[in-house]
Amino acid sequence: MQRVFSGIQPTGVPTLGNYLGAVRNWSKLQDGNECIYCVVDQHAITMGHDPKVLARRTREMAAALLATGIDPQRSILFYQSAVPAHVRLGWVFECVARFGWLSRMTQFKDKAGKNRENVSAGLFTYPALMAADILAYKATRVPVGDDQRQHVELTNDIAQKFNHDFCDDEPFFPLVEPVILGPAARVMSLRDGSKKMSKSDPSEQARILITDDADSISLKIRRAKTDPEPLPSEPDGLEGRPEAKNLVGIYAALTDTDSATVLQTFGGRGFGDYKKALADLLVAKLGPIAAEMQRLLADPATIDGILRHGATQAAAISEPIVTEAERRVGFLKA
Ligand code: TYM
Repeated sequence: MQRVFSGIQPTGVPTLGNYLGAVRNWSKLQDGNECIYCVVDQHAITMGHDPKVLARRTREMAAALLATGIDPQRSILFYQSAVPAHVRLGWVFECVARFGWLSRMTQFKDKAGKNRENVSAGLFTYPALMAADILAYKATRVPVGDDQRQHVELTNDIAQKFNHDFCDDEPFFPLVEPVILGPAARVMSLRDGSKKMSKSDPSEQARILITDDADSISLKIRRAKTDPEPLPSEPDGLEGRPEAKNLVGIYAALTDTDSATVLQTFGGRGFGDYKKALADLLVAKLGPIAAEMQRLLADPATIDGILRHGATQAAAISEPIVTEAERRVGFLKA
């Protein structure tokens, strides 16, 4: 039994990218692993936010995760800010991580852009808190989309430096492995095949939300950028065609197959046909999730109760690990 940890920011309704790249795999990993999943509300204040909106989105994210199949009987699900072990270890890791390491994080460079002087210090140190999220549980498997790979690698650098600096005997923190699964580990924008699909893209047409209704899904897919060629019969033919590759990857992920299988059916056909089939598939897969999410949100007290219970379970695991890490650093845990 391995321990799995992952988190998602409550910065909006999950996109198809969040769903296919990460969250869908979370529920699959519930068989045969000990799973801990977290709505990372503390990460979500690094970019500026409205407190009321954050509170609403945090609960919505919990409902979305439950609706996609995270089962509180089999997984621990909680709000990050309810378990203080994360920020305690996060501070230690800010002092373990080197300024140069954090400076090389591509997500920081992308998010800060030309505005480096004015972004929050938290945006810069964020990957140290993410490492703490994982290692506060000594988790070893981290299911994420491809864009989080660098942060998981940094987690290993931090674990190794901590072990080197503060452990004479056995390493205290384990090494972690990113679990990046399936043909949609990097879902791209529907408007630009070179950009990832993101909650924060200024164009709503660039993303599909898991709550989108049938009409908006059909419209967004119909308008999705493509090229004039028909679909190829083999995956090799998708090279240099990022938009086509993206749309095929989405179909393959939703049907639990691969691009080759999708192209056996659709190779040689034009995008008109293909987009219709893809939109129908998306509606069939996402519709029930959105309905279940709405049903759950009618009873916020039950959602919060589930997550409160999860926080108690999460604290029972992380508290002793983080207390021992602090003791090794030299804090008097009298
Ligand atoms: P976040 O909230 O941006 O995204 C949540 C998960 O969705 C994946 N994802 C994608 N996958 C494929 N295609 C896309 N277009 C796409 N967009 C997002 C992300 O890779 C992620 O797995 N730092 C993390 C949250 C976090 C975390 C953690 C993750 C905090 N602590 C500890 C794992 C372990 C983030 O901002 O994810």
